[in-house]
Amino acid sequence: MENIFEYVRDNVSDEITNDAEKYLPSEFVRKGNIGLPQISEVEVMRHYKEMSDKNFCVESGMYPLGSCTMKYNPKVNEVMAALEGFTNLHPLQSDEDSQGALELMYNLQESLKVLTGMDAVTLQPAAGAHGEFTGMLIIKKYFEKKGDLRKKVIVPDSAHGTNPASATMAGFHIIQVKSNDKGQVDIDDLKKLLAEQGDDIAAIMMTNPNTLGIFEERVLEISKLMHENGSLLYYDGANLNAIMGYTNPKIMGFDVCHVNLHKTFATPHGGGGPGAGPVGVVEKLKDYLPVPTIEKTEDGKFVRNYNKPDSIGKVRSFYGNFGVLVRAYTYILMMGKDLKHVTEDAVLNANYLREQLKDVYDIAFDERCMHEFVICGEKQKEEGSSTLHIAKRMMDYQLHPPTVYFPMIVHEAMMIEPTESENKKRLDDFVVVMKKIAEEIKQNPDMVNSAPHTTPVKKVDETQAARHPDLRVK
Ligand SMILES: Cc1ncc(COP(=O)(O)O)c(C=O)c1O
Repeated sequence: MENIFEYVRDNVSDEITNDAEKYLPSEFVRKGNIGLPQISEVEVMRHYKEMSDKNFCVESGMYPLGSCTMKYNPKVNEVMAALEGFTNLHPLQSDEDSQGALELMYNLQESLKVLTGMDAVTLQPAAGAHGEFTGMLIIKKYFEKKGDLRKKVIVPDSAHGTNPASATMAGFHIIQVKSNDKGQVDIDDLKKLLAEQGDDIAAIMMTNPNTLGIFEERVLEISKLMHENGSLLYYDGANLNAIMGYTNPKIMGFDVCHVNLHKTFATPHGGGGPGAGPVGVVEKLKDYLPVPTIEKTEDGKFVRNYNKPDSIGKVRSFYGNFGVLVRAYTYILMMGKDLKHVTEDAVLNANYLREQLKDVYDIAFDERCMHEFVICGEKQKEEGSSTLHIAKRMMDYQLHPPTVYFPMIVHEAMMIEPTESENKKRLDDFVVVMKKIAEEIKQNPDMVNSAPHTTPVKKVDETQAARHPDLRVK
């Protein structure tokens, strides 16, 4: 048989379509017209345009969704990902036929090694949380190989929910370390945990800056304590946008890290993906990376290496979300050394907003922040509104709401991350809106509490929507 499609076309298709009942139970055979809607092209276009107009994206306006780094994704990334040489390549084609794609993946790994300081990188995980899970499996394997079966992982109380979830999925038990009054890991609490349960502690998972947008100043002390205890350190790279080019996880003493390409490296983000969460490790963990690893041979060829007996195995089909990898590599090449300025502008923008808003809103742990900061909406709650209502009201002013009620250690939290994409005019407009809403709450809280008033869908019953979603188009 030359080709399955040709075979079906020449031998099967006519027979099946003409005489379906011979092959299928009669209840599955269509009796009448299928009833496809007959719509003109222009009506189809209007339908999609209308749906797209109802959507909100970073091209519509500011998207300060804290912790998510919703920066602008340059369109050149899309052009590169759509190149036919990439889109027509099948993942099962031989190494020889796939040299360009493999070279791109290898070069991206090398770039991420430079940016994170790590010694080896896998591009396979499809999201940040997937990277965390992969990293935790690597840590588990490391202890298994040593014959030291540690079962616990420390996670700060400010951590993103995926951290304890990923470690639990990998089979670890979670212990929480408290934050101190500066919003940073409480070293005394950490020492206490290590003294009490040290023999069983495999790792600590941290992000730095942490989810309050605050840099963990004592990170080197933490890594020393953990390493002295024989434990490893996992770096959640979701906040890499705040440190790129200034420091990296290796310098801070971490052994494993993931990077969210869909945050820091300007690839599509949202709707559950497709994202990419490459994982980097230090030398002693290299052998445990998922297979295949993408390597360069001495004669300059790029190969997929499956011969890794200590690998944790595969964590995703094929080699990761390849299109996302192309976009991230394009962005990194385009920015070059300017990646450092990305960090500078992201941090500057967040601090500018924090300073502008602090007279009107309470800021949690009000110190110089990194790329994001957290507002505490308690004052507005006392005045008869709440963080949720403020977030909904922002939609009336063509702003995407920030992340709300996270991190959980701040009451009425609202987490604002402007990213480097916004210029001063946009930031000033944002401040005007936020101040206006604070004033509206004083004058007429009911109006704010019943927002949004201008969106195609008004306030939804969130419990009903979550428990009984109705996703049909009627
Ligand atoms: C701090 C932090 N860690 C981990 C994640 C998980 O990343 P992903 O959504 O790519 O799974 C996020 C996502 O927002 C995050 O903000």
